Parts: sequence; structure tokens; C-alpha cells
Amino acid sequence: MPSVYLKTYGCQMNERDSEAVAAQLVAKGYSLATDADKADVVLLNTCSVRDTAEQKAVNKMEAVAGRMRKERPSAVLGFLGCMAQSRGEELIDQLPDVDLVLGTQKFHRTAEYVDDLLQQRREKIVDTDDEKGSEATIREHLLNGNAPKKSVTAFVSIMQGCNQYCTFCIVPYTRGHERCRSIEDIVTECRELAEGGVKEITLLGQIVNSYGKREIGVKDGKSAFVQLIEAVHAIDGIERIRFTSPHPKGYGEDLVEAYARLPKLVEHAHLPVQSGSNRMLKLMHRGYTRERFEELVRQLRATAPDIGIGTDIIVGFPGETDADLEQTLDLCREIQFDNAFIFKYSPRRNTPAAAMPEQLPEAEIEARHAAVLKTVDNIRANRLREHVGQEMQILVEGPSRRNPARLEGRTRCNKIAVFEGAPRHIGQLLPIRITEATQTTLYGDPAIVNLN
Ligand code: 5AD
Repeated sequence: MPSVYLKTYGCQMNERDSEAVAAQLVAKGYSLATDADKADVVLLNTCSVRDTAEQKAVNKMEAVAGRMRKERPSAVLGFLGCMAQSRGEELIDQLPDVDLVLGTQKFHRTAEYVDDLLQQRREKIVDTDDEKGSEATIREHLLNGNAPKKSVTAFVSIMQGCNQYCTFCIVPYTRGHERCRSIEDIVTECRELAEGGVKEITLLGQIVNSYGKREIGVKDGKSAFVQLIEAVHAIDGIERIRFTSPHPKGYGEDLVEAYARLPKLVEHAHLPVQSGSNRMLKLMHRGYTRERFEELVRQLRATAPDIGIGTDIIVGFPGETDADLEQTLDLCREIQFDNAFIFKYSPRRNTPAAAMPEQLPEAEIEARHAAVLKTVDNIRANRLREHVGQEMQILVEGPSRRNPARLEGRTRCNKIAVFEGAPRHIGQLLPIRITEATQTTLYGDPAIVNLN
């Protein structure tokens, strides 16, 4: 059977979509290749959120196509996902060797289309149409696919799309409007994962706290998303629940309070703030103020004192002044984020921000990026150091990425902890005494001896 090389760019949703595509292809008998040049099919699952992400995928495809044209002209080359959705046919005009362009509502048809192309039933396929019900098609998993890691934790896609229309963001155009899966459907998937040995579930959506707002609604004072968390919480074998990403707007008290009530809901929140300046937040169409964000963090920390709080920040949004940037730095120092991703503003097609006056020069954006990065990196390292001496529970996921002789897992607050362990520890919830912290990682020893 033919082999497929599948590479993913971008977010966890994309990782999850790729996993479902890989599972679908494996079920049809395809094997997964680790080297694009040796594969019969090369698929790039793309990201459009910033221009660099698009460029990376285009450059990769150009390089692969150049070699394939000479050595394996029958290979099938395809773009999947967000960039495929937003650029469609135009990608084939730019790269005529590409055979397949598949949008974000069509992942479930990958195997069928690849088959058609390999059998030469069709020459080129571009499918970026909307498809009703596509939000429920990302459900296959590749448990125990490549690494033992895969079987301990799993991502579950609960919804697709976004209705927020932040002025910088391309996602509503690449992922479409918000659609959610049913609670029963998601619970069935989580139950199957638990039966397969998965202990930790991360519920994925563009704005998870918007889950089921229209379709399911509030019941007994609980939003649909909290109802979903409760339903997953009730599954035997699932020990930990995470979700990403919530939006600060509409982050209700019921969701704050869930941390106190539901022990499997681990103390971690990735809360993209984007800016510390109210003027920028308004121009970005974020729907909250800095003060509201601060209040939310206060509530979360009052409810779950050990909560790890992460964020995303954009620097260099059109019109951002030094004073705006200073407010972002000030917010970072005040909140003391456990983790922060800093992004250089990248104008995206069809978004209002791309047409705003006062676009900043690249060198200025670069300098601001470096300044914020330095601040948040220091804060992250300090926050990690505060854990030294503490006993923390980790879920052991598998061999450490840096040094496979050691094991690694994540704490409830989502920090990576590395320790000397044995293969039998994989999949266990283990108390670890933290002995050391580097810029990004905790190191420790099992807090109980004679574990088995
Ligand atoms: N430019 C830079 N960063 C962006 N993000 C989204 N759109 C853009 C853009 N046009 C960032 C936001 C978001 C994260 C996933 O990507 O910070 O939270």
C-alpha cells in the first residue's frame, strides 16, 4: 500500500485534524512515512494565522515538488487545512505540481480524494466547500501510533469555527462560523479514549467557552461548556481534563467555579489577552477591557491558587504606540504569566486590521517582540523556580524529548517535569519532588520510594 508523509503547521486544532487524517489513512491501509522524499503522498496541513506559517508550508512544498518532479512524478502532493481553505485554487496556480487542495471542512474526505488521485481517476482536486456536520467528523485517533505518549493524553475537538471576528484574525474565514458537536458524541469519543488507556483529555475549540451557546444553552445556571466538562468528568478512567482556548470575553463565573468543584479539571488556563492596552483591545475587537481580564485572573487565582495561567500576546498591531506597549509589559509584570506566546503582528488578507492606517515597520515590531519576550521569559523562569522544593503531581507521558533515558510528564498547572523513572511509570499519576528548574522545565524525583 502507498505511504503518506503528513506534516502539520500551526495550532493544536491542526495537530488534532492531522491525527484524524492519519488515522483515516492508516485504516484504509496506507502507511505513514517519516521522509517526504520517499513517500507516495505528501500532505501539508497548513496554518494561516501569520504569514510566516504560510511561507513555511509553501517553501516546503516547493522543495518537495522540485525533487518529486524528477524522482517520483507519480507522487500526490496536497495542501490541507487553513491555507488551503483561504487560498484554494490559487495555490495550484502558484505551485502547479500540487494535486490536492482540501479545506477545513473536508478532512474526512482525504483518503477518498488521495485514492482518486493515485488511481488517476482525477487529475486535480480542489474542495474548499462548506459541509454541514463537518464539526463532528474529527473523531478518529491514532492511539499508540508512534510513541507511548499518544496513549496517555488526547486532544478532542469539540467545535469548529469562530464568530468573534477579532480584527487581526483570519480564523473566522478559514474555519467558518461556530458549530459544535453534541455532548453525547464528545462523551462517546472520550469514553473510547479512556478504554484505550487515555488518562488526560484536552477539549479543543477556537473559543471553548462559546461551546453550545445557541444549540445547548444554560441549564441550572451552568453554561453548555460547563455541562460538557461535567459529562467528561463523569467518565471512569479519565483522570484529568484540560481545555484550550477559552476567551476572556464570556468566561463565566460557572467556569471559574468549576475549578473548585471538579477535581479532574486541572489548574491551568490558557487565556489569550493579546494586549495590556484598552485602546488596542478595542481596536482588536476583543470584547473585554484590561480591568475585566485582571478581574478574571483574580477570580481564577482565588478559586484555584495554584492555577497556571498562560496567554498569547500580539505586538505591533497597527497604531500601537510605545505607551500601549508599555501597558502590555506592565500587565505581564502584574499578572506574572506562567507561560506566554508573543506574536509579531502579521497582516492577514480580508481582515480589518490589514487595512488600518499606521502599520508599523517590521524592524519596530521586531524590537517590541524582543522586549516583551525578554520580560515574559524572565517571569516564566521565576515562576518555575518557585516550584523548587514543592511536591507536584505529574501525569507521566513518556520518554523526555531531550533525553529519552528520562521520563517526562506535566504538572496539573501544565509545566513539564522531567525525572528518572522506569517504563512502568508511563501513564501513572505520580507525586514528584521538584529539585531544580531551568528556563522552561522542572526536574525532580519521585516523592515516594518503592513505587510500582
Ligand atoms: N498576527 C499575529 N498574531 C496573530 N494571532 C492571531 N492572528 C494574528 C496575526 N494576524 C495570534 C493571537 C492568537 C494566536 C493563536 O495567534 O495571539 O491568540
